[in-house]
Amino acid sequence: MKAKLVVLFMILSMLLFVLSACGQDTAPTANDGSASTNGQDQGQSTNKDTETKKIKIGMSIDDLRLERWQHDRDFFVQRAKELGADVIVQSANGDDAQQLAQVENMLSQGVDVMVIIPHSSDAMAAAVDAAKKEGVPVLAYDRLINNSDVDVYVSFDNVRVGEMQAEYLVKQVPKGNYFLLGGSPTDNNAKLFRQGQMNILQPYIDRGDIKIVGDQWAKDWQADAALQIMENALTANNNKIDAVVASNDSTAGGAIQALAAQGLAGKVVISGQDADLAACQRIVEGTQSMTVYKPIKLLATTSAEVAIDLANGKPIKTQGKINNGKIDVPAVLLTPIQVDKQNMMDTIIKDGFHPFEEVYKNVPEDQRPKK
Ligand code: GAL
Repeated sequence: MKAKLVVLFMILSMLLFVLSACGQDTAPTANDGSASTNGQDQGQSTNKDTETKKIKIGMSIDDLRLERWQHDRDFFVQRAKELGADVIVQSANGDDAQQLAQVENMLSQGVDVMVIIPHSSDAMAAAVDAAKKEGVPVLAYDRLINNSDVDVYVSFDNVRVGEMQAEYLVKQVPKGNYFLLGGSPTDNNAKLFRQGQMNILQPYIDRGDIKIVGDQWAKDWQADAALQIMENALTANNNKIDAVVASNDSTAGGAIQALAAQGLAGKVVISGQDADLAACQRIVEGTQSMTVYKPIKLLATTSAEVAIDLANGKPIKTQGKINNGKIDVPAVLLTPIQVDKQNMMDTIIKDGFHPFEEVYKNVPEDQRPKK
């Protein structure tokens, strides 16, 4: 009797094994013909053993309230999906504790790679540590994360961004009173922009041509903070400010509001960065002097490709290394572009970053460039 039961159990086990093996062969693949696993075209012959599972990316964003990061998210998700990956996106609205909790939550959902735009380049070291503990690689997106084992940093040459901003201003106003309006003090990029700005300004300061009449940093890159800072600066200097070195467009927008209240908008040269729509409108209307356009689509699509390669353990082609206080992080650095009224058509409009009608909507039709 016992022998019969053993044989019956063995037959049942064999039957179950055969049935379960058949289930794996019919695993779903992308029905759009694109890659559903490792970014390779499904048309290429892959034998069952080498097929990799669908990559799941966690994308942790500092603050979607700033326009540019909405573009970054949309381009990133679009490219990742084209390559057959899934993406979980979460915005921390500028809160360090929330951003760390969100990263830990995505890790618990089994993401294969973390992409982090840190609110704080220092605080998010804890998020990198948490990911590395799970064996999950980390891509620092546009902003470096300090004192941690970041796998790759994908951004633009941010010192060059600061140099471009200052180069433009000293060409317009080689002598005068300059106000330094820095970005978020928690953002490592803000320090890199300032480093680049001073690379250009310092010789003018040493010669006595340029005088720095103030230096403040705008919390979380917020326009309101910049407005407050600029109002105080104009009062303290009796409106005698000839140039404002603003590190991005949202803070330039706040500063221009304060200048306009004193009838100085368009009379004081002011820099920016990100090619926000409002900034491009101000540039063609003459109240903002320039912006630095960082082709966000290129940054986002490159980052999506790098993230998927990281998840698949593939080598990453980088242009150099940037020390983050702990290691020399491999870096993919893209080239920024200086944009003003003269080349708006050949850059922002030509790239389709913003539509012509939107950028020039407040400019009388007979004064608009030919499309
Ligand atoms: C910086 C970024 C800038 C600007 C700023 C505001 O990290 O490099 O391009 O977007 O954040 O979000």
